[in-house]
Amino acid sequence: MINLIPLPVKYEEKEGKFTASNKVIIYADTTLKTSASALLELFSKVTEINPKITDNRADANIIFKLVDNIKKEGYTIEINSENITVCASEFAGAFYAVQTLRQLFKLDYQKPCMTINCALIEDYPRYSWRGLMLDESRHFFGMETVKKLIDLLAMHKLNILHWHLSDNEGWRVEIKKYPKLTEIGSKRRGTHFLAWGRRDDAAVDWTPYSGYYTQDEIKEIVKYAQDQNVMIVPEIDMPAHFGAVLAAYPDLGCRGLQIETPIMHGGEKNGPGDLIACAGNSDTISFLYDVLDELVQLFPGGYFHIGGDEAPKAEWKACPKCQNTIKSEGLKNEEELQGYLSNKMYHWLKSKGKKLIGWNEILKATSLERDALIQYWHPIRDRRVEKWVRENGKVIISKHQAFYFDMPYAMRNLKKTYNFEPSKCKLDENYNAIIGVEAACWTEWIKDEDRLFFQLFPRIEALSETAWSPKGSRNYANFRLRLEEFVEVLEKLNIPYAPLNITDTGLIETLKTSKTFISQNAHVEYEKVKRNKQEKR
Ligand code: ACM
Ligand code: ZN
Repeated sequence: MINLIPLPVKYEEKEGKFTASNKVIIYADTTLKTSASALLELFSKVTEINPKITDNRADANIIFKLVDNIKKEGYTIEINSENITVCASEFAGAFYAVQTLRQLFKLDYQKPCMTINCALIEDYPRYSWRGLMLDESRHFFGMETVKKLIDLLAMHKLNILHWHLSDNEGWRVEIKKYPKLTEIGSKRRGTHFLAWGRRDDAAVDWTPYSGYYTQDEIKEIVKYAQDQNVMIVPEIDMPAHFGAVLAAYPDLGCRGLQIETPIMHGGEKNGPGDLIACAGNSDTISFLYDVLDELVQLFPGGYFHIGGDEAPKAEWKACPKCQNTIKSEGLKNEEELQGYLSNKMYHWLKSKGKKLIGWNEILKATSLERDALIQYWHPIRDRRVEKWVRENGKVIISKHQAFYFDMPYAMRNLKKTYNFEPSKCKLDENYNAIIGVEAACWTEWIKDEDRLFFQLFPRIEALSETAWSPKGSRNYANFRLRLEEFVEVLEKLNIPYAPLNITDTGLIETLKTSKTFISQNAHVEYEKVKRNKQEKR
């Protein structure tokens, strides 16, 4: 069994062995030089062998060759007893070849392995979209955690970080034209920590909470990600999940109510109800255009996410401006008003060379422009998505059943995540509609990096295999065996992953079917594991 995660398309073992211990001299064709440097760095960190890069191909025993008949992001590695030849047609493929070599030589293990079997590897991804969504509105993790996460995504051959930068509980990015977004919207008086069902004062930690990225920091993170073939897709959620904006600029809401940046996840008890951006107010549209204008400069990737999920329409039903717009634009109802707003964003983004992405609820408006991209998260079957696909629409699969990594393991165990087959979402594979998969990590109840990584690992390993490896090669029992060895990497990198004795079942005894269920039990799992670990030390 070859111990690689994600499993490559083809691994064919050959006679003989390659030994690196006496000589690692790397040569790379110009376009692939950064990959050569990355490999050099990995070898340098863990061995005594003093690896080198050479400009003379004849001196080298690890060679990166640029060839043009290799699939996008793919590579081949030929290992014989004398040398290793990596072929790729672009930076991304060579980068992923390095990640594979890194695992073969066990460069992140306690004991690297300098002698490996001769083999021929051919590899390329199943899906072009292989992502993770991180919610930094509910909790803000900051640059170092995000960089660490990018390293880990890249190591697993994942290539998208979808960055949820705004929500009710906090706005997390500097916008120069609207300073109150960060002066007011990035701060809240406390944090709801107990459970969805508890809305009393005792459920709030009254420590003031704040955090945001400056535009310079965003640029630094985007560049850091690009160097590892990770595209960052920003999300500004609209028209709902808009509380932090409304705290800063109340006039953008239907009633102009002055609120504080919300503390309670899921809405304040006795609060003003589900506030939402006023889609009938031209100032709201101008505001959104301005925000998008600043953000598209910072994120060079081709996509922009406008959220669009969970948008309650009571405010719009009672708002004269929203109702006027419905009339003047000849719209059928409030859902079509959301479609009107989405399409405005679609055209604005298109004029900047960006494609719009939205959560699957944006399909409630039948008028949505056809080449928007839909992120299908909802656990319940959504026939609108099926229709969208029949009409050639494209989809990213993020189904809650498998890919909501903030859920407790007891509810969404690793096997469930691993065995979830994207093409089984009643979306006929023949339409070629699924461009990829993306997991989501919402952070209402996740307040620090330790807990974040506990929720993510080893689920990211399962995700990487769904996203990258051929459908026919996936097998949970085999994955689980490989994972038992692979967790040594997480140990060595000091990632506080969930131990394998709980990932398959979760801590069942903590499972309750109550409103406190998700938040409480995920937390209990984490706390128990942490305690067990400390007791063992
Ligand atoms: C979502 O989970 N509201 C996209
Ligand atoms: Zn309104």
